[in-house]
Amino acid sequence: MTKSTDETFNGLSAKEWTVLSKNVWNDVSSPRQSVHMLHGATFPQALADRVLSLYSKQGDIVFDPFAGIGTTVIAAAKMDRIGIGIELQQQFSDIAANLIDKEKTDLFGSKQLLRHEVICDDCRSLEKHLYSSSVQLTLSAPPYPNMNTRPPHPKGPGRPRKVDVVEEMSERVPAHSLRQDDFGNFGYAMYLDELKRVLKKVLNVTREGGYSVWVVRDQRDTYNSAQYVPVHADIISIGVVAGWKHHDLIVWDQNDQRRLMLLGYPNVFYSNMNCSYLIVFRKPKDE
Ligand SMILES: C[S@@+](CC[C@H](N)C(=O)[O-])C[C@H]1O[C@@H](n2cnc3c(N)ncnc32)[C@H](O)[C@@H]1O
Repeated sequence: MTKSTDETFNGLSAKEWTVLSKNVWNDVSSPRQSVHMLHGATFPQALADRVLSLYSKQGDIVFDPFAGIGTTVIAAAKMDRIGIGIELQQQFSDIAANLIDKEKTDLFGSKQLLRHEVICDDCRSLEKHLYSSSVQLTLSAPPYPNMNTRPPHPKGPGRPRKVDVVEEMSERVPAHSLRQDDFGNFGYAMYLDELKRVLKKVLNVTREGGYSVWVVRDQRDTYNSAQYVPVHADIISIGVVAGWKHHDLIVWDQNDQRRLMLLGYPNVFYSNMNCSYLIVFRKPKDE
């Protein structure tokens, strides 16, 4: 027996629920403006809109600890949710404030009164900005880790040689800042440790049964024989250790948005990594 949309936790009808339940998404690209190019690593507005429609409803608090120029918070404003983000770099939180202002001028009545803000801070201090057990949904894309932080080998001539064959891939990853508190500058072990801390804090501010969605892409370690680094699997593991339930995994197919490159030809075959993963965690609930 189907329920009315008032009775579902996300306000979706049974038909919408079914249509949106595909676990491979290839229909969430959105037009990019010059501010998106300036940042270089935003996710599409349509992706944020889709995630919010699946895991939250009107009036809920939605959070993004790595907010960039505020795509998650803008989705919250558009969809009548409260939106709070944290972003390390002032230049990006300023852009977010402008974009949010623009979005809000088109809203009326109670929608305009809801809080929408990207705070400039290190997300490892997120508990300063959110009450415990208040957030329904986190949607976030952390920076890619820095795979190039190994110390020079004591006996070797210097750093391990980079595998040229996949060089282009890593060069597409923007280096956002030189700041020591930027997750994009952490070596992989430290990256996972610090992300686990953030995941624990996010769990604390999430209410029971709430969700946390992480958009990540796997990598190749170009300084280690181009070995495949299953970033999504590693983040699932640290999330579970942090206390989350691994609830779902969605593949974001980006083949139509990325140019195919000739990799390793003619000696070693590599696939082009043209997909990202949406890891969906859920806060355990006494049911
Ligand atoms: C992949 S981008 C997120 C983009 C965002 N989803 C959007 O659409 O605008 C990751 C962001 O995390 C920020 N960041 C890096 N380290 C951080 C930290 N310690 N605390 C908060 N933000 C951080 C970076 O400055 C960058 O803007």
